[in-house]
Amino acid sequence: MSDIKGKIAIVTGAGRGIGFATVKSFLDEGMKVVATSRNISKLNALNSDNLLVVPADLTDLTSFEKIVTACICQFGGLDVIINNAGYAKKALLTQTSAEEFDLHMAVNVRAPMLLVNEAMPHLLKSTHATVINVCSVVSVKGYETQGAYTASKHALLGYTKVLARETFKQNIRVHALSPGGVGTELIQETRPDLDFANLSTPQEMVDIMLFLLKNRNNAVIDQISVRRYTKEPWA
Ligand SMILES: NC(=O)c1ccc[n+]([C@@H]2O[C@H](COP(=O)([O-])OP(=O)(O)OC[C@H]3O[C@@H](n4cnc5c(N)ncnc54)[C@H](OP(=O)(O)O)[C@@H]3O)[C@@H](O)[C@H]2O)c1
Repeated sequence: MSDIKGKIAIVTGAGRGIGFATVKSFLDEGMKVVATSRNISKLNALNSDNLLVVPADLTDLTSFEKIVTACICQFGGLDVIINNAGYAKKALLTQTSAEEFDLHMAVNVRAPMLLVNEAMPHLLKSTHATVINVCSVVSVKGYETQGAYTASKHALLGYTKVLARETFKQNIRVHALSPGGVGTELIQETRPDLDFANLSTPQEMVDIMLFLLKNRNNAVIDQISVRRYTKEPWA
C-alpha cells in the first residue's frame, strides 16, 4: 500500500455529503486538500493548515482555473482530483426543461472534464496522479424520474472510460466509483421513499476512495460499483 501522506487533492462538492466526509478523511490521512463548493460554512469550521477552501460554482467556466491556480499557489502541486460534485433534480423526462437538462450536464460531466483539463499539466508532474469520478448506479441503469441525472451520469462514465484510455500511458490512474443509495441530502431529493437507516454512509464511499489511492500496485481497478445492502445484488 502506498503512503498518501502529503499528497495534494482537489475535492469538488466538498461542502456536504460524500465530499465533506472525503475532505475530513483526507486531512486525517495527512493529505493537503483544496475543497471546493458553493456553500463553505462547514468547511471553514474544519480550520486546518492543510486545507484550502475555494468557493466556486462549477457551472461558471472561470471556476476551474481559479481552483487549480489556488491549489498550485498554496501547495505547489497536485496529485489527486476527486470529481464528486453532483446535481440531481427529480422530474419526468417529459417535464424536464432544456435549462434543467443543461444544468445536470454542466455540473455532473462538463465540470469534471474542465477541471481535469485545467489540472493536466500538474497531474503529469505527479508520481501519484489519480482521478476519481463519482459516477452512480444510474451510470449504467435507468430510473424513472431521474432522466437528466441518469443521462449525465451515463455521460460521466463514458467520459471516465475515455480519459482512462487517453492517459494511462502517462501513468495517470482514472477510476469510476459508482454508488447507489448513500445517506446524503441528494438521495433525499431523488429517493425520499428509501429508509435512511439502510443506506450506505458517506464514510464508506471515502474508505473505497482511500483504498484506490493507496493501492498503487500492478492490479488497477477501473470501476467500483457499490449497492446499499438492502438492494438486491446485480439488479
Ligand atoms: N447519495 C447517493 O445515493 C449517491 C448515489 C450515487 C452517486 N452519488 C454521487 O455522489 C456525489 C456526491 O453526492 P452526495 O450524495 O454527497 O450529495 P450532496 O450531499 O447533495 O452533495 C452534492 C455536492 O455537490 C455540490 N454541487 C452541486 N451543484 C454544484 C455547483 N453548481 N457548483 C459547485 N458544487 C455543486 C454541492 O455543493 P454546494 O451546493 O455547496 O455547491 C454539494 O457539496 C454526486 O456526484 C452524486 O451524484 C450519490
